[in-house]
Amino acid sequence: MTVKDFTIHPNLNREMPVIDYGKGSYLYDKSGKKYLDGCGGAMTAALGHAVPEIIEAMKEQAEKICFAYRFQFTSEPARKLSEAISQMAPGSLNWSFYSNSGSEATELAIKMARKYWLDTGVESKYWVISRWSSYHGITMGALSLSGNIRRRMRFEPMLHKFPQLQPPYCYNCLFEKTYPECGVYCARQLEHAIQQIGPQYVAAFISEPFIGASGAAIGGPPEYYKIIREICDKYDVLMISDEVITGFGRTGKNFGIEHYGVEPDIIAFGKGVSAGYVPLSGITVSDRVYNTIKNGSGTWAPGHTLGANPLATAVGYRVVKYIMDNNLVEASREKGEYLKEEFLKLQAKHPIIGEVRGKGLMLGIEFVKDRDNKVFFEAKEGATETVIRKSTENGLIIYPAKGAFNGDKGDSVLITPPLTISREEMDEMVSILDHVIGETEKELL
Ligand SMILES: Cc1ncc(COP(=O)(O)O)c(C=O)c1O
Repeated sequence: MTVKDFTIHPNLNREMPVIDYGKGSYLYDKSGKKYLDGCGGAMTAALGHAVPEIIEAMKEQAEKICFAYRFQFTSEPARKLSEAISQMAPGSLNWSFYSNSGSEATELAIKMARKYWLDTGVESKYWVISRWSSYHGITMGALSLSGNIRRRMRFEPMLHKFPQLQPPYCYNCLFEKTYPECGVYCARQLEHAIQQIGPQYVAAFISEPFIGASGAAIGGPPEYYKIIREICDKYDVLMISDEVITGFGRTGKNFGIEHYGVEPDIIAFGKGVSAGYVPLSGITVSDRVYNTIKNGSGTWAPGHTLGANPLATAVGYRVVKYIMDNNLVEASREKGEYLKEEFLKLQAKHPIIGEVRGKGLMLGIEFVKDRDNKVFFEAKEGATETVIRKSTENGLIIYPAKGAFNGDKGDSVLITPPLTISREEMDEMVSILDHVIGETEKELL
């Protein structure tokens, strides 16, 4: 007997499998089907499922207190988590503030930038420059920042016009240039954008150090962020790194921006900070940003009712401690190198694979119709959808990242398994992908 479900699902006309439980890198639905969690749901379950230490921390804190309001109290778990983040984050990024979702974190990041300029006495700065082929969240402010055309489109009339820059998408350069002869024009265009808007109006620049849902691990040339940092400094623009996916070891460094050797002013984090065990996100800001506000108005009011609640921060602290105690950042780097090698072997075998990219356990595979001439699939051919559907049928969950090129074209998938994944599980994933990509080729080519 089918039980009536009054929950609204992404596809209102499709029956969803019902999750039963998870253990390590695997998920089990109510029908008994087993899935390898190749993307941590949405780049989130960084420790895998049902880790006893996390459950224990959750239980211990729940027995003491779950909620106390941040205007009335701080808590020991929040203090410990902030200290742990200040140790993990680069340079002088030492001060954290908490929310519940990645979207809230990126919105708080731009509000923090605005507040910094207000407290500096520069009231005209409000504009935030972001990039096309990006995703910063679904709330109105975060979606306004996002250059994910498919996700923006439906709400376009309600959004601010933030995205300005083209992404550093070397495989399909939108400027039709080639690295290194291009002189990293994709980074230099920031200067034009600032000049065109007027530096006196530009508060911040925000980007994902490795693009997630909108591009499957597109990073950029090695000098990309050094150029961005220089331009931000030249025009008094704060640099925000959206590390909602890339934070806490996902790319084999504590934070993704560290691959580029620069320090942003503000980091937005989410997902990995609690590994999906509770809703938790936040921002970390530099001494300069913090001290300017502390010595300026001395106040920071924006936030959410449940922000920094003791339960979420206790779980977050235990997750971050687990990552550090078990050297999972280094594990992500090593395992990612192995997995990438295996994916490159798949590329040699399957002409449909245009590019394998990414760092650590944040890897992307892009699919093309004709590799030699770099011809995309048409959106309606459904290359990404076919790979995702066949993977799920074969017991592997991976994440779709469609439309990086112009909203329609660009077919890719993200592979972001738990940082705790074993060698055998990675081999299982590669073998399923080999089969799935082979079947997709037969169907589409
Ligand atoms: C880079 C990035 N920023 C922000 C968000 C928004 O996070 P949330 O879905 O938790 O609101 C996401 C979600 O996928 C993301 O990938």
